[in-house]
Amino acid sequence: MKNMLIGDQWVSASDGRTLSVVSPSDGRAFDEIPRGTAQDVDRAVQAARTSLTGAWGQLNASERGRIMMRIAQKVLDHEEELAQIEAKDTGKPMTTARNDIKVLARYFEFYAGGADKLHGETIPFLNGHQVSLLREPLGVTAHIIPWNYPAQMLGRTLAPALAMGNGTVLKPAEDTSLSAIRFAELALEAGLPAGALNIVTGLGEEVGAALSGHPGIDFISFTGSNEVGTLIQQAAAKNAVKCVLELGGKSPQIVFDDVDVERAVPIIVRAIVQNAGQTCTAGSRLLVQRSIYDSFVAKVAEAFAKVRVGTPEMDLDCGPVMNPAQHQRVQRYIDQAREQGIPVLAEGQIAADAPATGHFVKPTLFGPVPRTAALACEEVFGPVLAAMPFEDEADAIALANGTEYGLLAAVWTENAGRLHRVAKSVKAGQVFMNCYGAGGGVELPFGGTKRSGHGREKGFLALEEVSTTKTLVHYHG
Ligand code: NAI
Ligand code: MG
Repeated sequence: MKNMLIGDQWVSASDGRTLSVVSPSDGRAFDEIPRGTAQDVDRAVQAARTSLTGAWGQLNASERGRIMMRIAQKVLDHEEELAQIEAKDTGKPMTTARNDIKVLARYFEFYAGGADKLHGETIPFLNGHQVSLLREPLGVTAHIIPWNYPAQMLGRTLAPALAMGNGTVLKPAEDTSLSAIRFAELALEAGLPAGALNIVTGLGEEVGAALSGHPGIDFISFTGSNEVGTLIQQAAAKNAVKCVLELGGKSPQIVFDDVDVERAVPIIVRAIVQNAGQTCTAGSRLLVQRSIYDSFVAKVAEAFAKVRVGTPEMDLDCGPVMNPAQHQRVQRYIDQAREQGIPVLAEGQIAADAPATGHFVKPTLFGPVPRTAALACEEVFGPVLAAMPFEDEADAIALANGTEYGLLAAVWTENAGRLHRVAKSVKAGQVFMNCYGAGGGVELPFGGTKRSGHGREKGFLALEEVSTTKTLVHYHG
């Protein structure tokens, strides 16, 4: 039985209710977390507010940075323990979980260095005046994160907010709150003052709705579904606060006929099977120039058929999907595509000794997928890759931009002119050229265009998102 963190207190829900923590690998409950209430959210927001005038708010920026660096070191010192927690909670392979914990530490290292480096400025104005622009925290920031990369996501959203001196309230996903709880214990041990970080666990429609609609918050960061993203923006609008939304994707791999095949194939396969396809930035569309479509897709199929799925301990290419709802959703996309007669080009294999009660799906490569099929346009959020041929550069750009999403894209060609032309024409927050980077890359500004959301996380830009300015005008004669 775990507790959640409000101020410096580890507490149960105000009404004592709990939620089961279930393993995606075998469907069994193995722990419990508090099912937080609106009252708990209220107390957490107050604790965050109080921290702004308490020990946390009084720290120098450099001292905030130093505490964050200590948090990063604590995370690294507990890498194996945190990875075990994360793997059990999400089902992901141990190697992936270990990497996620390293990335969590990286977020705190990177933004520790940023805490005292986003400066204000002075502005030339009328004679006899001195104008300075101060950089200030927003105040109380709310952070609602999903279950696909719990540890990475908490680092991504909390580290810049803490670096800028905000008081934060985190709502982890109900399926995966354990790494956040352990992280918070380590953060307090590292010297994070009370109230700077509060964690309220529970359901989205209860804790998430209460937090995003709370009149005491100044900002919301949300990562998750488009459906809930719209609710978050409405809640933010009611209180006239800013939100950063990181929503879905249908990111294309755009492969031209002069591609370096040996380099591209393993990266393309990994970009969709990584984390069982439950990655907003998964490369879920494989767009290949028609002249090499058959031969290139055959190479991808060969590699795809070698993908192995299993439990965290088996440490294969990917694990199960998160929960029964995701299992049904992904399987439905696969079944419908088959019923529509879309050819299956390759399937990965589920380990024979993987528990039958686990949420395992077979990674599946389909092609050619008709451009109007659901598989070509909608986010599956599972290990399903849709291959499609294109004719030329113009057709590739039209096809790449033909969904409502715009998160990531990759361009594969040895022609430098084409590489840059296509990269500039694709609507996406990040474009990779002859490489791909789903996750990680804490230095690289990241976020969506179109229905993939708005605002930027990662990199220095994230510090601007979670801070504001104040203009001081002084008449000195
Ligand atoms: P979701 O959007 O419901 O959950 C994400 C977070 O939002 C969780 O912490 C959840 O508790 C919270 N939440 C849910 N309802 C809320 C509400 N009314 N107010 C405030 N917070 C709320 O995502 P879900 O249902 O788990 O997954 C559905 C689909 O969403 C997936 O199949 C996938 O397509 C997409 N998704 C995208 C993610 C991304 O990284 N962009 C991550 C997770 C899901
Ligand atoms: Mg939902």
